Amino acid sequence: MGSLNDTFDSTLRSVQSAQTERELEDIRVQALGRKGSITLALRGLKDLSPEQRPVEGEKINRFKKSIEAALEQRRNELEAGIGEQRAALDGIDISLPSRARYKGSLHPVTQALTRIEDIFLNAGYDVVHGPEIEDEYHNFEALNIPAGHPARDMHDTFYLKDGQVLRTHTSPVQIRTMENREPPIHIICPGRVYRCDYDRTHTPMFHQVEGLVVDRGVSFAHLKHTVIEFIHTFFEESVEVRFRPSYFPFTEPSAEVDVKGAHGWSEVMGCGMVHPRVLSMSNVDPEEFSGFAFGFGADRLAMLKFGIRDLRLMFENDLRFLNQFR
Ligand code: PHE
Repeated sequence: MGSLNDTFDSTLRSVQSAQTERELEDIRVQALGRKGSITLALRGLKDLSPEQRPVEGEKINRFKKSIEAALEQRRNELEAGIGEQRAALDGIDISLPSRARYKGSLHPVTQALTRIEDIFLNAGYDVVHGPEIEDEYHNFEALNIPAGHPARDMHDTFYLKDGQVLRTHTSPVQIRTMENREPPIHIICPGRVYRCDYDRTHTPMFHQVEGLVVDRGVSFAHLKHTVIEFIHTFFEESVEVRFRPSYFPFTEPSAEVDVKGAHGWSEVMGCGMVHPRVLSMSNVDPEEFSGFAFGFGADRLAMLKFGIRDLRLMFENDLRFLNQFR
């Protein structure tokens, strides 16, 4: 009965390596079930001689008891293992929310600029960019600010070499566009501008958005409507808006626009009808076309929208400030 010895050995080995109760049950059936190896061997005892019968019988019963004991032991081990896993989990509160991953956010000026661009893109405008290093012609002369004009002093210009400047406003992009495109023109020009100035409401670099519309029959009424609609859309509420007569060398008539906020009226933009001389200097016939232009500080609008008191906070990269704009 060598084969029964082998079967016995391999049965014990599979009991010991079983990983689940289910596996143990299969092994038990194969050995001790109705057609199991041990059961069949016991049944075969009757065919043995009377001398062999008690010897074999004793051995098979010993196998049977060993297998039963091994099954029992392995079952206990498996249960204990599951218990161990449970115990390990007991120390962990799996209902706790996971630790938040650090998530960055868009800078408030970027948020404002994106919003501004979306509003004008929806209204059919193109977004146009121009160089931050400009020549004096586009930054001043073509905008009807000749050398020696008092308006030049107000720009606190950073002068570079060879008649170049850091642009002091986005208005030169109007000029570059008119030089390169035929009307009708509907554009906004967002970008960085530079002025040598520093206090609670001024930083040497800030962001402007220029608007320019040139077509036949463009009037001040179109300008007023556009500006008011834009401000109402940007602030998502019917804030009070007022137009004050003003002066810019490149627009006539000109106005400044104020918005009423929590702290009273704040000036938000300059605007006006493009001066006929500015149109003709850039090859647009003022007899045929008229246009309006506006320019505003995107940072200024973001300050009003988010209730920020000091413009300098925008550019100091203090995380305590930036984290408030998620
Ligand atoms: N460029 C002007 C400024 O920087 C703003 C402006 C733009 C005014 C267009 C009128 C028309 O102050």
